[in-house]
Amino acid sequence: MKKITKAVIPVAGLGTRFLPITKGVAKELLPIIDKPALQYIIEECVASGIEEIYLITSPLKPAIKNYFSKNIKLEKFLSSKEKYEELKLVQNISNICKIYYLVQKEPLGSGHAVNLAQKYIKNEPFAVLYGDDLMSYDKPVLKQLIEVYEKNDSNVLGVKKVKDDLVNRYGIIEFEDENLMKVKSIVEKPNIDSAPSNIASLGRYILKPEIFNELDNLKMTNKEYQLTNAIDNLMQKQDFYACEFVGDYYDIGSKFGYLKANIEFGLKRDDIKNELQNYLKQKY
Ligand code: UTP
Repeated sequence: MKKITKAVIPVAGLGTRFLPITKGVAKELLPIIDKPALQYIIEECVASGIEEIYLITSPLKPAIKNYFSKNIKLEKFLSSKEKYEELKLVQNISNICKIYYLVQKEPLGSGHAVNLAQKYIKNEPFAVLYGDDLMSYDKPVLKQLIEVYEKNDSNVLGVKKVKDDLVNRYGIIEFEDENLMKVKSIVEKPNIDSAPSNIASLGRYILKPEIFNELDNLKMTNKEYQLTNAIDNLMQKQDFYACEFVGDYYDIGSKFGYLKANIEFGLKRDDIKNELQNYLKQKY
């Protein structure tokens, strides 16, 4: 079985749910306390054994590549001021992992974005992480998916139960065998009445390279090539298992999800926790 060492992170979406800020700032760069959301996701990759990351970026979001690139001027400045702690912080960002940037000229959907990595991934299974789906965890969520892949030698979806009123926001899975967590199909944003379950696929995938055949032959729905549709097609030919991961999930592409992530991450940070707790207690 091939080891999972490559990850694709699509970050070229327009973020229309988070306007107006996303007119000028990529949602994936919005800070959770003091670090961009995307940095946490890249750190999750590194902690899960990923060695190469393919970021699918947009010409409208040049700041993403700038942030993860070396900034010699800033490093020289920090060095001259003997700010060595800050220097290390800045250097660690550009040394975090081998990152390759692939440009999606137009936002034609998550499936189109992932397919741009085809010639670099070639014939290997790989990970996909959505750049606006942030996880907090004890064990990295991607690592939990990789363990399911290693057990079954299969495609894997990261999933969690969601409340009934949220079912119409996600790809919802239908089980072939719930005890084995074997998945039969996935439906994008169903109504609660027609939804096969309330188990949602949440922005973490391990995919076999045959997904690229499905992406090459995919039809547009709602003017986009949706990764979920290609996954559903591949499910008719290959095994998919669900990994109900342990950890919390935040959709930082939505305003409330972003706010929640900042509060929850703040409550976990030793340097902020007490002040934030006291503030919330006193005020509310
Ligand atoms: P989303 O559907 O959450 O992103 O895609 P979006 O299209 O930016 O969202 P809204 O609805 O307009 O607010 C999940 C991930 O896939 C990327 C996004 O940047 C996000 O990280 N994506 C989406 C692309 O890279 N290309 C696309 O064409 C669409």
